[in-house]
Amino acid sequence: NRAWRGVIEEYRDRLPVTARTPVVTLLEGGTPLLPAPRVSAMTGCDVWLKVEGANPTGSFKDRGMTVAISKAAEAGAKAVICASTGNTSASAAAYAVRAGMACAVLVPQGKIAMGKLAQALVHGAKLLQVDGSFDDCLELARKLAEHYPVALVNSVNPHRLQGQKSAAFEIVDALGDAPDAHCLPVGNAGNISAYWMGYREYAADGLSTRSPRMLGFQASGAAPIVRGAPVTHPNTIATAIRIGNPASWQLAVNARDESGGDIQAVTDRQIAAAYRLLAQEEGVFVELASASSVAGLLQAREQGLVRPGERVVCTVTGNGLKDPDWAIAGAPAPTTVAVDAHAAAAALGLA
Ligand code: F0G
Repeated sequence: NRAWRGVIEEYRDRLPVTARTPVVTLLEGGTPLLPAPRVSAMTGCDVWLKVEGANPTGSFKDRGMTVAISKAAEAGAKAVICASTGNTSASAAAYAVRAGMACAVLVPQGKIAMGKLAQALVHGAKLLQVDGSFDDCLELARKLAEHYPVALVNSVNPHRLQGQKSAAFEIVDALGDAPDAHCLPVGNAGNISAYWMGYREYAADGLSTRSPRMLGFQASGAAPIVRGAPVTHPNTIATAIRIGNPASWQLAVNARDESGGDIQAVTDRQIAAAYRLLAQEEGVFVELASASSVAGLLQAREQGLVRPGERVVCTVTGNGLKDPDWAIAGAPAPTTVAVDAHAAAAALGLA
């Protein structure tokens, strides 16, 4: 019963670090694996939520960023760059501060949640809003990293996926074995690939007896892997996964096929419903993109792709506080009252 030491120290022997690697950490990982009684009752499955919004910057990106920034520091980098729908930039900005590096981020203008913008700015990143999509931002970031002295920390950097695989380790460590199925959102397709790497690694080393079927979910307006072709103008309310040409496309397809899983589309309406379900029935406030894992589980259950009695983990990837605008817009307007107990009681329906 000791204090959590962060992803690198907890899983050092499974990560590409040596005694010479400076460990840049905010003590990420060690996030709750929370039973979901209401979703379990709805599906007949034994459902657990891996609550990644509990990471230091509020998303799973921190698991990968601790490794990517530590390796960049080891290589002598003075500056890092990333393209982002918001969470990667928030994480890169914070870890760059910790490492004493400069950080540049490229985001699609007007298409990232306000909390994420706030994070990049408060940590002092140089933020460029690009008149284009996330896919345009990533292409630009790759070019800049190729021609200028700045290290790319998007998930095309293999150290990111190495760090992110630690979430699969934690799940097996907590449950004693891998679940039957694992549901998660798919955007740039790095995370599903990282989980699959982690599950396979534990199974190969005899730390689990099986690996789960990987079930990935894209938003229907941004579902290139489901379609089998890039989407030029991706669109969804789940801005974190508004991506038309995922960088880890092939790795995600491999994870799907090797695990006997699937990658499907869920509509914005399904995502919004799962978002409210998690907030109002499970007490877990996630961002919209994160809810696609649970929206996807409900859909997969209906299709018989997941059966009653099976153990299922849904990763909820980011904290709902990142997008307060959406939460407020979807709720009834608050009532204003005078400093008066009778008026307050009446407004609350108590009197
Ligand atoms: N959920 C959230 C909250 C995300 O921010 C992302 C990706 C995903 C899911 C999808 O994960 O890309 O590994 O398939 N966000 C990236 C970013 C693109 O820039 O923050 P993925």
